[in-house]
Amino acid sequence: MPHPRYTPHRQAVDQQKYRSPAGVLGCGHGRLVGRLLEAIPRGRIVGVDRMPAMLEELRRRAGTQADRITCVEADLDVPLEGILPEGSVDAAISVATLHWLQKPRVLAASLRHVLRPQGMLIAESPAEGNLHEVWEGLRMPGVKQMPRARYSSAAVWRDELHNHGLVVEQLEVRRIPLVASKDVMVPYLLLLLDPMLTAAAVEDKWSLASELCDLLENRVVYRRLLVGARLAFEHVRGWPAS
Ligand SMILES: C[S@@+](CC[C@H](N)C(=O)[O-])C[C@H]1O[C@@H](n2cnc3c(N)ncnc32)[C@H](O)[C@@H]1O
Repeated sequence: MPHPRYTPHRQAVDQQKYRSPAGVLGCGHGRLVGRLLEAIPRGRIVGVDRMPAMLEELRRRAGTQADRITCVEADLDVPLEGILPEGSVDAAISVATLHWLQKPRVLAASLRHVLRPQGMLIAESPAEGNLHEVWEGLRMPGVKQMPRARYSSAAVWRDELHNHGLVVEQLEVRRIPLVASKDVMVPYLLLLLDPMLTAAAVEDKWSLASELCDLLENRVVYRRLLVGARLAFEHVRGWPAS
């Protein structure tokens, strides 16, 4: 079972062909950036992340290609104005990050600032209610749940992007049932559970994941938000700030 978080990369990369510079919002340590470096062989990438360790690892992994990447340490809940120049990227791509953001309005304003006219936003992230079945199943004694992602709704993203001059071309929440055999599902659940069970012995983690797998009976659904938008020409200059 491919990890549903990483399958979007191919689509995002395909849509980026020939677009440069491409901004990667929440670039992490570079899984997506690595693919983009191949897709736009002479292009430049601006990687934004709030964690310096991620950016350091991104540079390390890029090796000889690192000079094509500009790493920007920034919190996407804070305006990018003053951090990145106006109209400095031809596309903004974000995978598995929107759900951590507290302020969609701020990101929408940053996109209006940073995108070139007709520049695109392509974003995918877990959506509201994602893996709800797992978290419900975890209501077992002894499992301390981690803080959850923020999950602004699709409607909030649509309104904020629209209000900031982006024409929303795609906005949907796709439901992807995670149907897999137990020997595939248990390691996947372990991956999800691991941060919550730091003190538990390995055997206990396996037996909890196995128990949870039986309880869930392949009812788990991954909910993925897909967003595609384009900055309209007429809104680039002089659009009133919201
Ligand atoms: C799950 S990772 C995804 C990394 C990469 N896009 C990928 O798909 O492999 C989410 C990334 O978003 C970053 N992130 C989360 N909240 C952020 C914020 N408010 N500002 C900037 N980066 C943020 C995290 O540091 C992390 O590197």
